[in-house]
Amino acid sequence: MTSIDSTSEVEPGALSAEQAEKEVERLRTEIRRHNYLYYVEARPEIADAEWDLLFRRLEALEAAHPALRTSDSPTQRVGAEPVDSLPTATHAVPMLSLDSTQDEAEVRRFDERVRKAVESRVQYLLEPKLDGASLEVVYEDGLLVRAVTRGNGVRGEEVTANVRTIQSVPLRLRTEERPAPALLSVRGEVLMYLSDFEGLNQSLVEKGEEPFANPRNASAGALRQLDSAITARRPLRFLAYDILAVRGVDHRDDAQGVAALRSWGLPIPDRVRLVDDIDEAIEYRNAFDRDRDELDYEIDGVVIKLNDIDARVDLGETSHHPRWAIAYKFEPRKEITRIERIAVSVGRTGVITPVALLRPVVVGGVTVSRATLHNREELERKDVRPGDLVRIQRAGDVIPQVVGRVEEDGQQRGEPFAMPTRCPACETEVTTRGPFVVCPNRFGCPAQLKGRIIHFGSRHALDIEGLGEETARLFVEEGLVTELAELFDLAADDLVGLTGFAEKSATNLVAAIDARRRVELARFLFGLGIPEVGATVARALARHFRSYAAVRDATREELEEVDGIGPIMSEQIRAFLDDPQNARAIEHVLQRMTELIPPAAAARDGGLAGKKFVFTGGLEGFSRPRAKELVEGAGGRVVGSVSKATDYLVAGSDPGSKLAKAQDLGVQILEESAFVRLLEDAGVLPD
Ligand code: IVH
Repeated sequence: MTSIDSTSEVEPGALSAEQAEKEVERLRTEIRRHNYLYYVEARPEIADAEWDLLFRRLEALEAAHPALRTSDSPTQRVGAEPVDSLPTATHAVPMLSLDSTQDEAEVRRFDERVRKAVESRVQYLLEPKLDGASLEVVYEDGLLVRAVTRGNGVRGEEVTANVRTIQSVPLRLRTEERPAPALLSVRGEVLMYLSDFEGLNQSLVEKGEEPFANPRNASAGALRQLDSAITARRPLRFLAYDILAVRGVDHRDDAQGVAALRSWGLPIPDRVRLVDDIDEAIEYRNAFDRDRDELDYEIDGVVIKLNDIDARVDLGETSHHPRWAIAYKFEPRKEITRIERIAVSVGRTGVITPVALLRPVVVGGVTVSRATLHNREELERKDVRPGDLVRIQRAGDVIPQVVGRVEEDGQQRGEPFAMPTRCPACETEVTTRGPFVVCPNRFGCPAQLKGRIIHFGSRHALDIEGLGEETARLFVEEGLVTELAELFDLAADDLVGLTGFAEKSATNLVAAIDARRRVELARFLFGLGIPEVGATVARALARHFRSYAAVRDATREELEEVDGIGPIMSEQIRAFLDDPQNARAIEHVLQRMTELIPPAAAARDGGLAGKKFVFTGGLEGFSRPRAKELVEGAGGRVVGSVSKATDYLVAGSDPGSKLAKAQDLGVQILEESAFVRLLEDAGVLPD
């Protein structure tokens, strides 16, 4: 049957209810089949334009016969109203993390442990490790009922309306090969194909908006939108890899589970393989590493999973990861390219950062043309100069970095780059602060104002769609915004005619700004750009003080009652708030806001609820108070001495006698890296 034949020519309104119902059913079945062929089997039978015809006919029929509209119809993917905040929901089963390594020997030790514990034949299921955002999708009686982000592993954010807009997520399970289970909870990854990502970034740049740093950030952000219409405009994909819970079916091994997922119409990753020993798993990883460039999505390693389900239960899991699986990761991506020029950019705090402008190079599917050189000292230490050949690294979601210079024989090198003595934006004479070069002209420097506007509208702050680098630059250059508060005074008419703005985009941006007069207190506090106050501290302040006035009036001592705020931070915060120019600028913004929403009680639950931690030895990445704040942020507690009631001993360098005591008592011991992973999983550190 070809698609075109199946759309009838009769005017939808002229059909009887029964005739319409029959055709609607036929169209839905056909559209679902084509979706399955396209997203799961990757062998479409019809062209996009033909699919569009089917879809539009279905839309027309449903419009003429609204009684036939059902929520699982392929037309019903957008339509939910935007919400103020995302509700949280508990996962069917905790979504654990994975143990991971880049070291072959460690993979072999994993295999030894598994073989020691498992009596039956050991087989491994191998999959690429997808680098996106983890998601649980739940079907009841074959219908999509819920989608929840990973969150802290126990609870996540409910994003059902957003996930419904992802075409590759079936709204109803396919039942051609086997019946739908009563309940199915699936774990998978939401990601963006590299080709789609480049397209999205290109269109953002054309609209004067800030492009995303990488596909992973772009997908995670899109998934958590409050307005599903925005998610619908992002080219998201879903790939399923794990059955979290299922009722009514029994799988003895994972390979059967994956086959079932596929038959239900869920897309699964490419090249899933079942092997008999660890050598094959290692070979699989190395082969993937060699040709991961051929995939259209980012992977950062492979996952090796014990296939047998009963044996998995025997092996069990730690609170962090299952003992039956391991991620064997790749080295970060590196490429070599040439520095064309070194430029400087002035940030919102006045810090002047040297940036390497590169001959564009594709690093893991993402085109990189700039990389940070951090500060004056780093620049001197690395001694990279314009014209030098350099190695660039991009790992996960970090900003591309210049790893170092690549020596070239007989190459005449350029002059070292000298940091400017005057601010390139306002020509004020620069000062230095430690390794940094700084423009001291805080309120007069257009670059700093531009930086403050961008920060205020950024994703963890007010999250104003359409307010990116280019737009902020225009606002400042055209004199439309001379201080932050004036953002709220903009009218659509002010913008029409500016480069990149037409009637519609101007109205949209003004509406987006207007909508954020009411915003979560934590976002507002973060958006102010107070030194030392990142998103986590902003959340802690909001939880503790619950209003802006209370933060503004807090003494240093009171600020230090907040977990994670010590004397240095409290001093910085007070100095910022006491500065008359800052105070006035904030007051002006506040006059234009309607409500700052304190955090809901639910936000206080955490993935480490009730867990007791003890620290010994030095941590590299955190101060003790910071570590404590993070643990408490996730609902855990920090106590001074080890007892049987202790859940974790975090052992840093040069641990004291607590370590031996913990070992005696059988308390779980975490090295710093394991502690970091635990925090990431609890959602208090970015994953
Ligand atoms: S299995 C309990 N399989 O990697 C084991 N995870 O670093 C469940 N991930 O947050 C996970 N690809 O979201 C599994 N093929 C794959 C995966 C995968 C990516 C993610 C997962 C997790 C992260 C752990």
